Amino acid sequence: MWEAPETIGRYRIIREIGAGGMGVVFLAEDQVLQRQVALKVLRPQPGLTPEKQAALAERFLRECRVAGRLTHPNIAKVYDAGEDNGCLFLTMELVHGDSLRDRIDLLGPMGPPQAVDIARQIATALSYAHSRGVVHRDIKPDNISVSPTDRVKVMDFGVARLATDITVSSPGTVIGSPSYMSPEQIQGGDVDGRTDVFTLGTVLYEMLTGRRLFQGSSVPEVAYKIVHTEPDLGGSFPPRLRALLRRALAKDPRERFATAEQMLTALRDPLLLRWDLAAGDRREDDSALGVPVAAPGRSRVLMIGLVGGYAAAIAGTLIFAGPAAVSLAAGGAAVALTARLAGGARSSALAGWGALCAAVLAAAHTWLDW
Ligand SMILES: Nc1ncnc2c1ncn2[C@@H]1O[C@H](COP(=O)(O)OP(=O)(O)OP(=O)(O)O)[C@@H](O)[C@H]1O
Ligand SMILES: [Mg+2]
Repeated sequence: MWEAPETIGRYRIIREIGAGGMGVVFLAEDQVLQRQVALKVLRPQPGLTPEKQAALAERFLRECRVAGRLTHPNIAKVYDAGEDNGCLFLTMELVHGDSLRDRIDLLGPMGPPQAVDIARQIATALSYAHSRGVVHRDIKPDNISVSPTDRVKVMDFGVARLATDITVSSPGTVIGSPSYMSPEQIQGGDVDGRTDVFTLGTVLYEMLTGRRLFQGSSVPEVAYKIVHTEPDLGGSFPPRLRALLRRALAKDPRERFATAEQMLTALRDPLLLRWDLAAGDRREDDSALGVPVAAPGRSRVLMIGLVGGYAAAIAGTLIFAGPAAVSLAAGGAAVALTARLAGGARSSALAGWGALCAAVLAAAHTWLDW
């Protein structure tokens, strides 16, 4: 059992906050700047040759330097990193709030608006980090902190890469569970921002249902499911949200959102949380692609009503009025239908109203001799 010293570098340890796969996180005081920080100390790796220890330290400091350049309101800032008496450590902004893991475990599933709001903030952080060449690689509820007012901070940017180093350096060490890994991570393939897109999909699903998407009684079983089994997205979600999840969770990275930015666009779709879209509506998929869609895809009944209304208006105008009113109404109806087919709900409604007004005016003209 490893005993933490009283101080590490210029940091005085106050108490332990928690422990994870790679090390222990402490509440500590920066004695120079006299402020509290979160101090993460990597567990010593027994049995490492001095060369391997030096290589690990070098890699660790390099990752910390990269992560330290990230400054974003939704990312826990890395302040400092170093080595003291063989202990590798880094200090971070002390984040106040529950981890998303505790939130889900204590309060169960969230409503779609709250889950999507949290996912948007995570996607914003990812999009920023990816644009600076940093992939998180370990997005999971434990690495997301949520304040009482639902402000999100993503923790451990870049540091997750070290987990692989430690596993490789110390054979037999199992770090964490594969539950939140992407298929390509499990298969040891190249990893890019689309891995974070996949894992954000699993986290969003868990927020919505309170359940882990990939579960199993053993690590190989979970890993097999992630790579080969199409997940059952049980639960009731608005149709576009379901399409978004499907897209983020595609096994093949090429079928996912190409970037976190694209996923963010889909998360911002104003129709994402609408329940009244037909499940088979093709535009559902367009929305998940991040393509702006103007039409709300109202029910078929409304469409039939509109077409019937235009037809009645034209027929009424033909019977009761002269050619000018007929062309006005027919033109309006044509514009309305074209706009409706192209997806412009607002222009469709306006043109429809125009056609109806022309018909009413024509009828009034005939009947009242006006
Ligand atoms: N900057 C921080 N501020 C406050 N608490 C933190 C901070 N970073 C981590 N913690 C907390 O410390 C605990 C341990 O975190 P740690 O990152 O070591 O483990 P983990 O995220 O569970 O697993 P992993 O090692 O895979 O990241 C968690 O409860 C986490 O919420
Ligand atoms: Mg962590």
